[in-house]
Amino acid sequence: MKFRHSLLLAGVASLLATGVWAQSAPTPLHVRATAAMCANCHGTEGRTVEGSAIPALAGMPKDYMIRQMNAFKDGSRTATVMHQLTKGLTNEQIETIAGYYASVKR
Ligand code: HEC
Repeated sequence: MKFRHSLLLAGVASLLATGVWAQSAPTPLHVRATAAMCANCHGTEGRTVEGSAIPALAGMPKDYMIRQMNAFKDGSRTATVMHQLTKGLTNEQIETIAGYYASVKR
């Protein structure tokens, strides 16, 4: 519980740090805020630095991400952290997040 809380706070902090509120973005804030949970590890807007061991999320096809998230959630895909994380997300949140990252340019 504590772990999830700090992830959420970190997500909000990185949202502020990247100044997304200053942009006239068409993406609703709640969508960005939900997707920002992932920025701590997967990079701002899902862009990782070159050579990162963590996969980038930017531009990942929606269907692929939903399948991976569900596989982490039900344990059919092994993970170090993603299985824990996905257990805290509803199907609706996964859908929202996957839609967001699919729309982000690589
Ligand atoms: C604490 C760090 C961390 C956070 C936060 C995190 N991830 Fe991950 N993610 C990882 C790691 C590490 C992997 C590699 C699999 C593993 O070991 O868990 C991974 C793998 C993935 C994969 C598989 C990529 C592929 O190429 O198949 C997807 C999809 C993914 N994460 C999505 C997300 C989403 C969406 C969020 C936000 C809800 C998120 N992650 C938050 C660390 C993180």
